[in-house]
Amino acid sequence: MENKKAIVTGGNRGIGKGIVLSLLEQGYFVLATSRDSTKFDVTHPNLKLANLDVCDHASVADFQKIVNDYDPDILINNAGVTKDNLFLRMTEDDWDEVIDTNLNSVFRMTKLVVKGMLKKKWGRIINISSISGSMGNPGQTNYSASKAGVDAFSRSLAKELGSRNITVNSIAPGFIQTDMTDGLIHEEITKKIPLQRVGNVEDIASLVNFLVSEESNYITGQTLVVDGGLFMK
Ligand SMILES: NC(=O)c1ccc[n+]([C@@H]2O[C@H](COP(=O)([O-])OP(=O)(O)OC[C@H]3O[C@@H](n4cnc5c(N)ncnc54)[C@H](OP(=O)(O)O)[C@@H]3O)[C@@H](O)[C@H]2O)c1
Repeated sequence: MENKKAIVTGGNRGIGKGIVLSLLEQGYFVLATSRDSTKFDVTHPNLKLANLDVCDHASVADFQKIVNDYDPDILINNAGVTKDNLFLRMTEDDWDEVIDTNLNSVFRMTKLVVKGMLKKKWGRIINISSISGSMGNPGQTNYSASKAGVDAFSRSLAKELGSRNITVNSIAPGFIQTDMTDGLIHEEITKKIPLQRVGNVEDIASLVNFLVSEESNYITGQTLVVDGGLFMK
């Protein structure tokens, strides 16, 4: 790893922040984005911050200039939301917001970086999906559909970019302790997890560290599950 540069969306909290801290610790340069970069409570000589709303076309277009100057080797599409509700009560706005934030943004963000990676003939694109995209979950038709879409996106793009030494993979977390799962995690869930605990952000970050490294260079188009054994195919 000679000074590789990573972009992490939604890097200010939760899983994204865990990935940012872990990449910095490994010696990577990191450009962490957030809707409000003043919210970042991390400073590091290798860390740059940028404001970016992945749903706002103007914000994404402005970010292209920053991407061009930064010339990233690695993109981690992490930003995501839930708007859970049973299908009969789910509004079209809740459907649209989740699909736009979790799936359409992956298209938009990846567009910004691919040309640069093609020139370098090296790249790593990692999309944070969810086991909900493979196993389904009541109350999450929007979220499951968005994450299944992300996994399918990773497979197809991996086939397009493999010959240029760019790998594209999804990481599908199970229950990870963050704001997103606050109030959702309880004893009944923990009992169903073979490893008998919910995950922490470091459990995801350690797989990211592997996937961005040369050690993973023969792995592409995969959805790698990190869930303590909750979902087994
Ligand atoms: N936690 C879990 O158990 C779990 C399980 C499976 C998958 N995941 C996935 O892991 C990823 C991170 O989740 P998390 O648990 O860390 O959630 P979180 O703590 O709620 O953090 C979500 C992050 O996404 C950012 N974000 C949301 N909408 C955005 C937008 N329009 N533009 C830019 N950034 C936006 C948030 O920024 P703000 O601070 O500006 O809101 C925040 O940084 C998500 O893709 C999620 O679906 C999480």
